[in-house]
Amino acid sequence: MIGLAGATLVACAEKAIPERQILGADPARGLALIEAEGCGACHRVPGLKWPRGAVGGPLDGMSSQTMIAGRFPNRPDVLVAWLRDAPAMAPDTAMPASGLAEDQARDVAAYLYTLDAD
Ligand code: HEC
Repeated sequence: MIGLAGATLVACAEKAIPERQILGADPARGLALIEAEGCGACHRVPGLKWPRGAVGGPLDGMSSQTMIAGRFPNRPDVLVAWLRDAPAMAPDTAMPASGLAEDQARDVAAYLYTLDAD
């Protein structure tokens, strides 16, 4: 049992949470897409100098957050769906549907999962 507890501690100390890694996605391309899509008009995004909007809140802790928009579990498939079409999931949200294709949304999600609040 002592060995198991030790392993758990080590896992918690690691930075990246394994289930929040997106295979084959490219975080650098994700940041370029974030810039091109104008996410910065509404969000402050680390790595993006301008614009730094305040409509949707900062995205600086997405890898450590448990929920997306306070109501959906923060998992890659859910985040990708949110990034593509948030109103389909939450009709009352002020976040608009983006023009992102599935693979592009995966790249954006991969970038967001590099962002850690601490
Ligand atoms: C017109 C403003 C607007 C634009 C443009 C926008 N968002 Fe949002 N976004 C919001 C708002 C408002 C929320 C909060 C949604 C809610 O609580 O219903 C949000 C929520 C989010 C969340 C969840 C944040 C959290 O802390 O849980 C993520 C992630 C996100 N947006 C990413 C993006 C990305 C990436 C883009 C560009 C593709 C983008 N947004 C474009 C307004 C916007």
